[in-house]
Amino acid sequence: MGLLSSSLEIENLPLYLFPSWRLPLLCTLFLFIFFYLYNFFRDVLQPYVMEGKKAFYKMPIEVVNVTLPSVALVMLALVYLPGVFAAILQLWSGTKYNRFPNWLDRWLTSRKQLGLCSFLCAVLHAVYSLCLPLRKSARFRLVNMAYKQVKASVDDSWVDEEVWRMELYLSVGIMALGLLCLLAVTSLPSVANTINWREFSFIQSTLGYCALFMATAHTLLYGWNRAFDLRQYRFNMPPTFVLVLVLPFLVLLSRLALCVPCAAGRLRKVRRGWERSRHIRFTLPAEGCHNGLEDVSNV
Ligand SMILES: Cc1cc2nc3c(=O)[nH]c(=O)nc-3n(C[C@H](O)[C@H](O)[C@H](O)COP(=O)(O)OP(=O)(O)OC[C@H]3O[C@@H](n4cnc5c(N)ncnc54)[C@H](O)[C@@H]3O)c2cc1C
Ligand code: HEM
Repeated sequence: MGLLSSSLEIENLPLYLFPSWRLPLLCTLFLFIFFYLYNFFRDVLQPYVMEGKKAFYKMPIEVVNVTLPSVALVMLALVYLPGVFAAILQLWSGTKYNRFPNWLDRWLTSRKQLGLCSFLCAVLHAVYSLCLPLRKSARFRLVNMAYKQVKASVDDSWVDEEVWRMELYLSVGIMALGLLCLLAVTSLPSVANTINWREFSFIQSTLGYCALFMATAHTLLYGWNRAFDLRQYRFNMPPTFVLVLVLPFLVLLSRLALCVPCAAGRLRKVRRGWERSRHIRFTLPAEGCHNGLEDVSNV
């Protein structure tokens, strides 16, 4: 168990309160506060300041239901971002035996907790979303709209584009949540112990990326073309979905770049234990080898 001085820490182990959860929980809390304030300024304060509209009733549900999915998506991207850094470092150093820097090591080992925090936010977002039409405010708004429609003698207010947008983003959101549920279930030790490493890695890595893709598509479909509508830039603040899409896009594009055959092939070799330095030996200049260096792996 190491040095005698470590005994102090070892004896205190049963007294620690979720030590591995500290960073992920802090990260979740920080993102929640940031996005809550951001949405409060955009959706509540701006209409009050500019038009005198009182929208404070939005604070308990509507603002929370924009904040929670934003946190969920950014946290999900943060789960897969360190894997990309790890891959780039391994490609660069040409070995899997080098230690990762401490910050990356800590980040990689916190991915489970980051993922479960993201999952919690996504589940809460789904429950909040299902409750949206149950609210009195939604019913009043619906009745008012119906009254205005009757007064304006509009028979049918059906907008095909709006219908398609909602059908699509809800369906993709449900699929994303389904995949996240699968990931959460396999992270239970009792389930993880019944599957082998390859199965676990397939679910966590491959299906995890699918979940990130679905969640990103859900947000893109929800945003539709509103990113290009200047009226959405209240107080010059871009819509929240624009902000939260940056990191997932970055992660998905980097992963795509790592799938390019030359990078993917080299990474596969490195992960199987191949080392660049071991496979390069010094030889006398020979035919077709002018600098004295020869890659033995190709011989
Ligand atoms: C709801 C939920 C639950 C989660 N539960 C868990 C959990 O229980 N446990 C957990 O660990 N994570 C969990 N996660 C986090 C995440 O799903 C996993 O860490 C996932 O494996 C990350 O995939 P990856 O492809 O980014 O990383 P990895 O598959 O870890 O790969 C990252 C990098 O490490 C290197 N690497 C990969 N394989 C090897 C190898 N064989 N040899 C050397 N280097 C290698 C490569 O450079 C690779 O790019 C969870 C996430 C969510 C959303
Ligand atoms: C059953 C699953 C889901 C349902 C029913 C659902 C439903 C919704 C609804 C109704 C909205 C619009 C909210 C509003 O009008 O204010 C929305 C937006 C959003 N959802 Fe989901 N969702 C689901 C899953 C997910 C998941 C798994 C994620 C990400 C991990 C996610 C991320 C987002 C984001 C980022 C937005 C945009 C918030 C904004 O900027 O306004 N959703 N979703």
